[in-house]
Amino acid sequence: MHIIGVLGSPHSAGPSSTLAREVLRGAQDAGHTVKIYELNQMSVRGCQGCRTCKDQGVDCIVEDDLLPYWAELHSAGGLVVSAPNYASQVCGPMITYMNRHYCLLDRDWKVRIHPGIKLVGVFSQGNQNREQYLPVYRWFLGDFENRDMQLVDTIVHTRADAVTPGSPLMERAYRVGRSL
Ligand SMILES: Cc1cc2nc3c(=O)[nH]c(=O)nc-3n(C[C@H](O)[C@H](O)[C@H](O)COP(=O)(O)O)c2cc1C
Repeated sequence: MHIIGVLGSPHSAGPSSTLAREVLRGAQDAGHTVKIYELNQMSVRGCQGCRTCKDQGVDCIVEDDLLPYWAELHSAGGLVVSAPNYASQVCGPMITYMNRHYCLLDRDWKVRIHPGIKLVGVFSQGNQNREQYLPVYRWFLGDFENRDMQLVDTIVHTRADAVTPGSPLMERAYRVGRSL
């Protein structure tokens, strides 16, 4: 199947992106195709609240770098999203990206995408208490679950965790990818 990775960090080689890439490496080794979107390299606007998606039952019409993503998502079996924690929240560009999935609900709030896309969330935070921001990560992933995606795993990296080959979190990330 096809798996999309959306990386929200400005650090292409930082812990959240590294762990997400490891999930995707596992997925590739399991025979899946993978496409990565790095939000920091893209022009992505916020939801314009135009309601065209509701009025016409279509994907988001905003003409920016997310345009090819929608068609791809409709044929995907997996979505891996990663982000650093900024100011006790998922970083801003990732929330902007998440908001755009408003288009996947029709005017009667029915989901307009096939159910069961496997969802993996990867987050990185300075705080060593892994539980500290779990409600925030659940809220963020919940928006995708509300589009009938199926949460497979939530990986939380703290500054105490290594992201070197063979480290526990890297092994977990790879295993999750293999299992998709
Ligand atoms: C603007 C900013 C705000 C941050 N706010 C928090 C925070 O509220 N709580 C926290 O635990 N870490 C915070 N951090 C630390 C990052 O979450 C941490 O460095 C993370 O590992 C970065 O991941 P990345 O390199 O994958 O982007 C903040 C970092 C920045 C730059």
